[in-house]
Amino acid sequence: MCGIVAYFGRKSAQPILIEGLKRLEYRGYDSAGLALLHNGAFEVFKTSGRIANLEEMLPAVTPDAGLGIGHTRWATHGLPNTINAHPHVDYTGKIVLVHNGIIENYATLKKWLLKEGCTFKSETDTEVAANLIGYFYQKNRTRDGRNCPSDCNRFEWAVQQALNEIYGTYGMAILCLDCPDTLIGIKKGSPLILGVGKNEFIIASDAAAIIEHTSQAVYLSDGEMVTICGDSFSTKTIANEKVDAELKEIEISLDQIELEGFTHYMQKEIAEQPASLETCLNGRIDLKNGRVVLGGIQSRLRELARTKRIILTACGTAWHAGLVGEFLFEQLARIPAEVEYASEFRYRNPILEEGTIVIAISQSGETADTLAAVEQAKERGAIVLGAVNVVGSTIARMTDAGVYLRVGPEIGVASTKAFTAQVAVLSMLAIELGRRRHLSNEVAENLLKELVAIPGKIKRILDQSDVIREIAAANIDKDNWLFLGRGFNYPVALEGALKLKEISYIHAEGLPAAEMKHGPIALITDGMPAVFVATRCAQYDKIIGNIEEVRARGGRTIVVATEGDDAIGPYADHIVYVPDTVDYFQPMLTAVPLQIMAYHAAVLRGHDVDKPRNLAKSVTVE
Ligand code: F6R
Repeated sequence: MCGIVAYFGRKSAQPILIEGLKRLEYRGYDSAGLALLHNGAFEVFKTSGRIANLEEMLPAVTPDAGLGIGHTRWATHGLPNTINAHPHVDYTGKIVLVHNGIIENYATLKKWLLKEGCTFKSETDTEVAANLIGYFYQKNRTRDGRNCPSDCNRFEWAVQQALNEIYGTYGMAILCLDCPDTLIGIKKGSPLILGVGKNEFIIASDAAAIIEHTSQAVYLSDGEMVTICGDSFSTKTIANEKVDAELKEIEISLDQIELEGFTHYMQKEIAEQPASLETCLNGRIDLKNGRVVLGGIQSRLRELARTKRIILTACGTAWHAGLVGEFLFEQLARIPAEVEYASEFRYRNPILEEGTIVIAISQSGETADTLAAVEQAKERGAIVLGAVNVVGSTIARMTDAGVYLRVGPEIGVASTKAFTAQVAVLSMLAIELGRRRHLSNEVAENLLKELVAIPGKIKRILDQSDVIREIAAANIDKDNWLFLGRGFNYPVALEGALKLKEISYIHAEGLPAAEMKHGPIALITDGMPAVFVATRCAQYDKIIGNIEEVRARGGRTIVVATEGDDAIGPYADHIVYVPDTVDYFQPMLTAVPLQIMAYHAAVLRGHDVDKPRNLAKSVTVE
């Protein structure tokens, strides 16, 4: 959700910024821009559209322009046009900045700044921040008339004054015309990382834009700022208290963020699932003793096993994994569980009895709604755990303890390998809590044996990509699809529908199959595709009945069935087979053909699979 990259060093900033922006383009791609501070002037370039458009308009590289900031936007306030694209220069011409996040009180601040004589060019909330900093920098005094102390850096001070006025979220990189050797980064609610190289610094929204240059980084916490001045940097809070920066090793590698022969990241990430899931499970399952070892939360498992209630909270695909988690905790651990949309939970004044455990599930670890739900749960005294992929992300750091997904960077906007790993992590936790409560060691051991077999079974599904492509092609002219499942495959039906709509723009609805007859069955018309996840499971016979109901009304059935289930043939216009497994783990298998189907449908419809319309990875705004 907007990507920021800033460079200060001895190399030319321009190509580094462009490369970095390309790596961050999955975070937003409706407009882009960069600003260099060179020879006492800002050189600003911006345009609507993709980074490629920006690249085309840039002049030849200036080798000695080593300071600059760049941005790729996902519009919140104002159309995605050139004027609204970042960077934004303030009304005095002294300040330029890029911003990820939302300034919630921008309208009030804008009104005040206009009264004070500031001018605005764009419709963005970000320009308010630029003008506010410019205002304090120029006036050199606070709103109540106190001057900038003589021992303070005025640029830094002006940034702090402005932030005192701002409500909202931000990751920002800021330059000041009078300070050609200074770059400031600030973070609150939007990610910001400082890469520390040899004689060079890179500030970015995520490590993908840094790893090519250095593996050493400082992960800023909320309310912190970094000031890079010449060859050194210092970190402090926005309230001007010193913070000791901790250098950490970035845990991703360059090959993990390259396409490596695939056409799309989504395609690569679907194909990676046998390996990514294996990494997720690796070292966490002690088959000999039928136990699960989850380093991040091991010391808390006793306490967790005693809980009376688990609340899972997440958004989108992660919410679907959470719904699987709800069923897993109830059935395997016999702990009452419920999954909550983070965006609703945060505003619902939730009742959290003592000892309730809240599990926040998030690939990015930066989703604003999930983050707010975590804050809410912590304030109310719940134990908050994270099931997060991005190491060092805000949610990972805010939770009391957690389990990383360990699937490597997920760059395709449509989440795939994170989903299977989220379900795997929740499965491990549910089995371990179950074992500590009532499951026999033998049952736990058998479940764990089955769990470790899942990655190999996914491989067999990937081999059917061509068959699935043909099914997608045969139905590609259909604009309305249904996805139906029961039990553990009900969340998969929701996930299949989400995958299809977000990248192919085909309208799709996911439902528990039995709910269809309470209304949605009215939608069935001749030839309408209805995808049934009808594997051998507790509700198998029931879902066959639901398939018949659709067929009787002319619907075209695409059935995900269990290998060897020949009896399902007469009920299906198209069949995809998945290997057999216990009901609990079926979502990790049955979601995969639906991911592949959505991928092929989007390609067949000619869409940019990794950069779907109106979307961006990592939703860091409300
Ligand atoms: C869908 C998708 C989104 C995310 C959601 C939560 O394919 O990617 O629905 O699952 O925005 O994101 P994270 O998991 O990063 O919190």
